[in-house]
Amino acid sequence: MNENQASKANLKSSNVVWSDTSITKDRRDDLNQQRSAIVWFTGLSGSGKTTIANALEQRLHKNTFRTYLLDGDNVRHGLSNDLGFSDNDRTENIRRIGEVSKLFIDAGVIVLATFISPFINDRKFVRNIVNQTEFIEIYIKCPLQLCENRDVKGLYKKARTGEIKHFTGIDSPYEAPENPELTIDTSKLSIDEAVDEIISYLIKNAYISVNRKQRITQLLLGCFSSKKSPA
Ligand SMILES: Nc1ncnc2c1ncn2[C@@H]1O[C@H](COP(=O)(O)OP(=O)(O)OP(=O)(O)O)[C@@H](O)[C@H]1O
Ligand SMILES: [Mg+2]
Repeated sequence: MNENQASKANLKSSNVVWSDTSITKDRRDDLNQQRSAIVWFTGLSGSGKTTIANALEQRLHKNTFRTYLLDGDNVRHGLSNDLGFSDNDRTENIRRIGEVSKLFIDAGVIVLATFISPFINDRKFVRNIVNQTEFIEIYIKCPLQLCENRDVKGLYKKARTGEIKHFTGIDSPYEAPENPELTIDTSKLSIDEAVDEIISYLIKNAYISVNRKQRITQLLLGCFSSKKSPA
């Protein structure tokens, strides 16, 4: 966030003043040799958000990119442990995650955010608090029937018997993205194919570069050679 964005923030108190810091997001991105952003995975429970994000993070990490995976259930163990699954609580959950993701972007990290995030307006909120190119919405598409057959956590079964209320796709709505940056259909693509598609998108749009390691090596060599022969 810069001073201009800060002045538009929705503040309860008027006595809060934004302080600029010398090390900016651009400088961190430059150091990390990547462009930070939120890769936002949305889709039904069991569609494959966590599975694909996890595989993607492994691929990025192996190639020395800076990432952090923010996952629905994990966030509800801490930051959002006071929230349930009513519409209002879901909205507040996504607002908090959006703000945390924004801090991670500022820290120069590529955030992989895996949240059912069923409401278009909540996802729009996150898109709107960061710069235009910093929100990459990925719709992890999968027919409800297949998600229910997978029933990884056994939650669909509980939702069908009424043991769990407000379950997305059963008795709580899911609003599919209207214009996502990417749609991944996990009833058609394998996990590896899905990761390939996301990596291609990140390269094509210059979030990451295949030449990264080489550039770092060149920087290191430049540093060594200047030490060897001081001017
Ligand atoms: N092509 C595929 N892509 C992703 N997952 C797949 C695919 N085929 C089968 N699966 C399986 O589907 C399940 C998806 O579960 P996962 O926990 O990733 O879903 P999720 O969207 O994160 O759900 P939740 O919102 O409940 O956290 C996993 O068991 C995974 O192995
Ligand atoms: Mg998950």
